[in-house]
Amino acid sequence: QPRHQAVLAAAGGGTDALHLFSPSKINVFLRIMRRREDGFHDLASLFHVIDLGDDMSFEELAGTASADVLTCNMDGVPTDDSNLVIKALNLFRTKTGRSQRFKIDLAKRVPHGAGLGGGSGNAATTLWAANELCGRPASVEELLLWSGEIGSDISVFFSNGAAYCTGRGEVVENVPPPLPLNTPLLLVKPPVGLSTPEIFKALDLDRRSTADPRQLLARLAAEGATQELTVNDLEQPAFDRLPELLQLKQQLQAEGSCYSSVFMTGSGSTIVCVGSDSIPSFLSDARYTGMFVSPARFITRQRGEWFAGPSQKA
Ligand code: C5P
Repeated sequence: QPRHQAVLAAAGGGTDALHLFSPSKINVFLRIMRRREDGFHDLASLFHVIDLGDDMSFEELAGTASADVLTCNMDGVPTDDSNLVIKALNLFRTKTGRSQRFKIDLAKRVPHGAGLGGGSGNAATTLWAANELCGRPASVEELLLWSGEIGSDISVFFSNGAAYCTGRGEVVENVPPPLPLNTPLLLVKPPVGLSTPEIFKALDLDRRSTADPRQLLARLAAEGATQELTVNDLEQPAFDRLPELLQLKQQLQAEGSCYSSVFMTGSGSTIVCVGSDSIPSFLSDARYTGMFVSPARFITRQRGEWFAGPSQKA
């Protein structure tokens, strides 16, 4: 059932630990505009932060500590320098000249290789936490700018929740949420994840949509999330690679009246259903064992904290 755990703040609780909710995101539409000289792609996408997320706690280590200590409940998540959390701390120290080391505990719910930006959300939350624990040497605007140096979809987590993102994804423009915040969402992800660089590499630019992204944004606000408006140019390479993902999308679409739109988020492999969070009965078939299925809601940031829509607060 929907978890409205989207209200998050520094709990404190009498200790010096900072407990934070680390949200994820979906791409309501994702247009890939061009391949760049540096190997990245310019994109144009409506990102929206959602209430599926991880719990993180942060503590400053004693001055003698020579390394950060990251622990995580999920198997297969690296806890060394390759984790975006540690990259975020290294970036924070470089930019601010601080030398503090931290103990971080990461309780993950957001699956990996899902197109949900779970690791990116963790990196953004880490930058925010380090800044808080060090007495706010940086502004949120600076954190947003710096975050683009470690990944393309981290900056959105410093937005107000709904953001039109361009460049590699790191150029963030806050927009009024075009869809009602209490729109029910259902996330469905097969056990197999997809690798973002591989999907970008396999993208055939001649098979893209031609929709104008600014028009998609305007029409979403006017018409809601219809199938036509929730385009994702990365579906083609993802479905080429994983034909069963296209089948899953089609099966969810066949639920018909239940969802106004069904689409893949980011580079996959999560399929997002908009308009209902009821779980279709076909997913209880043994063939679908191991699927990640979760209801979700859009969230926005208000006065520094993440909130779900008004009807979810009761
Ligand atoms: O920036 P991030 O680490 O999320 O990107 C992972 C990989 O995805 C990049 O190394 C690049 O291959 C690809 N990518 C891209 N264009 C983007 C974002 C990511 O080609 N806008």
